[in-house]
Amino acid sequence: MSNEVINKVKSTNQKYLKKNLENIPVKVMSQLENMDWTYLDLINQEVKPRGTFSPIEAMELSEIEANKSSLKEKGLEAIKAGKVAAILLAGGQGTRLGFDKAKGMFNIGETKELYIFEQLINNMMDVTNDAGCFIPLYIMTSEKNDKDTREFFEEHNYFGYDKNFVKFFVQDMAPATDFEGNLLLESEDSLAMSPNGNGGWFNSLIKAGLDEELKAKGIEWLNVFGVDNVLQRIADPVFVGATLESGCECASKVVRKANPDEKVGALCLENGKPSIVEYYELTPEMAEARNEKGTLLYGFGVTLNYLFKVEKLREISKNSLLPHIVKKKVPYLTEEGKLVKPEEPNAYKFELLIIDMIYMMDNCLGFEVERNKEFAPVKNAKGIDSVDTARELLKINGVNI
Ligand code: UTP
Repeated sequence: MSNEVINKVKSTNQKYLKKNLENIPVKVMSQLENMDWTYLDLINQEVKPRGTFSPIEAMELSEIEANKSSLKEKGLEAIKAGKVAAILLAGGQGTRLGFDKAKGMFNIGETKELYIFEQLINNMMDVTNDAGCFIPLYIMTSEKNDKDTREFFEEHNYFGYDKNFVKFFVQDMAPATDFEGNLLLESEDSLAMSPNGNGGWFNSLIKAGLDEELKAKGIEWLNVFGVDNVLQRIADPVFVGATLESGCECASKVVRKANPDEKVGALCLENGKPSIVEYYELTPEMAEARNEKGTLLYGFGVTLNYLFKVEKLREISKNSLLPHIVKKKVPYLTEEGKLVKPEEPNAYKFELLIIDMIYMMDNCLGFEVERNKEFAPVKNAKGIDSVDTARELLKINGVNI
């Protein structure tokens, strides 16, 4: 038993652990030993104020349309040369959807089976068919869904994708605490741990030894995308071509906000550097501000589809991101050992966010896509950004569901 851990438990006065100090189960001990204890220091720390925001320009639809064929050609050339890979972020828990398996295993079909993973692979195959080659796909899972995800792809024969081009890697976990900083137990023999957000993906990829593979294969660009958006184009040659042409080290697919108050982060500049301002960080004046053409100044919503230059990722991987503290509902054992499933948020989780990586870039190309054609996120079961809205959009776009 590690004395160092025991001392930490004592000095931070851990309510749920201190009673059983002589007898901490092996798994909990190992979780405590491997845990980043500095998370606890963040709880009472003041949130670092944001810098000065200003609008950013994006490559808009008309400009993309006018140059589409040359951009596409440039992008396809890079893809055919094996310089582009795709990273699917699938480690989230998708609590809002209320589906107990990995979100990608959700059947979005109506009259037939069409899993979210399958739809994403279908989208990728539009490009691989065009390019005449497969694109390496790295799928980030978490300890919670890794086994299920791998088995699901195997069972479904990778939905027609060449499995030699697909690799999985597992992201790190972070603890959850109550609002006083007490680490929560999810069972007698385990802390309540959850995936550490979508911002740690490149470091998790390095940890899994896959950066060596990127080097060996000569991969220079990574198209990182979330599991939610069933209409997104992946490794889109036009997007790749536009990014290469721009000379930027990163790019983000953006959609025009549906309205000034839409709950989506917007691409912008912060202290002159590319960044993302959350909808709740905008003053009403900023949210409504428009240019002379009537376009919202903070109106380019990010869609979690980014292209990063690998060289730059390696450079920034040495600097750590600061975790965000988010309030969530986390089931836990009381001091008496009773399991509580809270109805309201009761705990802090610590998450690294990919949006913070954008601020570490020297520049970023905003690349506009048509929201009705490329943005159908599945976040909720009903209502906005839900299974229902995504199904509607798939049908409008001619996908047989
Ligand atoms: P969300 O922000 O929607 O989080 O993730 P979530 O955990 O999936 O869902 P909710 O908030 O509980 O409903 C956006 C993307 O980031 C990935 C998700 O899988 C999704 O593709 N993600 C999120 C990770 O890969 N790891 C994480 O720890 C969190």
